[in-house]
Amino acid sequence: MISICIEQLVKSFGGKQVLNKISLSVSEGELFGLLGPSGAGKTTLIKILTGQLSYSGDAHILGKSCDRLDRSIYADIGIVTDNSGIYERLSCYDNLRLFASLHGVKKDIIPAILTRVGLDNKRVQAGKLSKGMRQRLILARALLHNPKILFLDEPTSGLDPATANDIHSLLLELKAAGTTIFLTTHNMLEAHKLCDHVALLCDGKIVEYGVPDELCRKYNDKNTITILGKDGHSVCFYNTPKYAAAIADYFSRDNVAAIHSSEPNLETVFMKLTGKELDR
Ligand SMILES: Nc1ncnc2c1ncn2[C@@H]1O[C@H](COP(=O)(O)OP(=O)(O)O)[C@@H](O)[C@H]1O
Ligand SMILES: [Mg+2]
Repeated sequence: MISICIEQLVKSFGGKQVLNKISLSVSEGELFGLLGPSGAGKTTLIKILTGQLSYSGDAHILGKSCDRLDRSIYADIGIVTDNSGIYERLSCYDNLRLFASLHGVKKDIIPAILTRVGLDNKRVQAGKLSKGMRQRLILARALLHNPKILFLDEPTSGLDPATANDIHSLLLELKAAGTTIFLTTHNMLEAHKLCDHVALLCDGKIVEYGVPDELCRKYNDKNTITILGKDGHSVCFYNTPKYAAAIADYFSRDNVAAIHSSEPNLETVFMKLTGKELDR
């Protein structure tokens, strides 16, 4: 089953085209990553898919056209952005209670959701939360009604590594439970670790799409293997049969401290394709 389907999608603001003939699809239960530097068009695409912006071309979520979504879609989707409308003066619990009543969800589940995102002090006022805790609350809010699709716009941007890791674990749990996740990030390590498929977006165009590991192997132009010997010397071989014996020799002499193949990471792939850097 396809959860999200986009074909030849174009979006312009004034005369400026910011999404240029985007086509992609996300299957049910998949964790999909849209990667790109700031200004690439990631947030714009999330807004289009969640019915907040007009567009031309085709875009469907859960079989419904994104230019004709009504409020009922909000029962099926959860959205995490940095301006996710938290009520600063209410406690974490009361924030969730408000959204539970909006979604027609029983408030009994709130404590379990708060625990799940690692927010145990539910009485604390939302305005007093640290950035990481606030992000956990926003995530809890998006999960309250057990959505089929979760949209996350740079969910770990600016968070400390421990909180980012907790959020990663939670996303993998949600995926295991069948939730479809549409994530944007400019963090390639995060994308590689989490995503089933990624699309690399640059200046409104998808420049590459695929499984992270496969993309890295596809752009392994060097095709070398480097062996660090136990004697402290490192040697680089082309990964061809010609060097098989030489490589084997390191193993037979028990002289392998480490071995590395030369495939680039996603960040390097992105830079190769676009000439641009991601993290800034
Ligand atoms: N409401 C808007 N009006 C005009 N231009 C916009 C608007 N929203 C976004 N843009 C422009 O569209 C481009 C993509 O923005 P955005 O989707 O926010 O990128 P990202 O989320 O990847 O950083 C940027 O050049 C941005 O300035
Ligand atoms: Mg953005």
